[in-house]
Amino acid sequence: MKLKLSKRLELIVKMCDCSDTIIDVGTDHGKVPITIANLGLAKNVIAIDNKKGPLETCDKNAKIFLNNKDVLFTTLLSEGLEKVDKDIECGIIITGIGYDNMCEILSDINERNFKYLILSPHSKIDKFKEFLNDLNLKIIEENTIFEDKKNYSILKVIKE
Ligand SMILES: C[S@@+](CC[C@H](N)C(=O)[O-])C[C@H]1O[C@@H](n2cnc3c(N)ncnc32)[C@H](O)[C@@H]1O
Repeated sequence: MKLKLSKRLELIVKMCDCSDTIIDVGTDHGKVPITIANLGLAKNVIAIDNKKGPLETCDKNAKIFLNNKDVLFTTLLSEGLEKVDKDIECGIIITGIGYDNMCEILSDINERNFKYLILSPHSKIDKFKEFLNDLNLKIIEENTIFEDKKNYSILKVIKE
């Protein structure tokens, strides 16, 4: 069965490069990491949420829609990246989360071995860009999409 993604979620997936591991923080329904796994963009795909309910939905969706047996797909109950080893080389997606929460999750990001970040805070995008600048993180791509009567900026970020 084919998983249907909104234009915004499609764009998030499109902005991801291949990486051994791709992590989606605040996964909710898990549509993004399941699609990434099905496309074979990573060997390990980790879907994180800090609440059990969304992870159960993600697990249900994975049972129905995940069709790439070569990929290790894991769901993880974690506050941000807390339970993820800092040395893992990875691409990290954090979208659909408010500004303050996003900054909290990213507070130790420079200690992590990430290849790229795909970031889309719900709010305060200009302030968020200043926050990234203060962390010496560089925006290499920005796309804006209008969905549900709202503009969403999606940023691709690397270490400077
Ligand atoms: C609005 S949904 C966004 C879903 C998806 N990422 C998207 O862009 O559509 C936000 C999800 O993030 C989870 N969440 C919020 N704060 C979190 C945190 N600090 N760590 C992990 N998950 C978090 C919530 O439980 C919720 O499932």
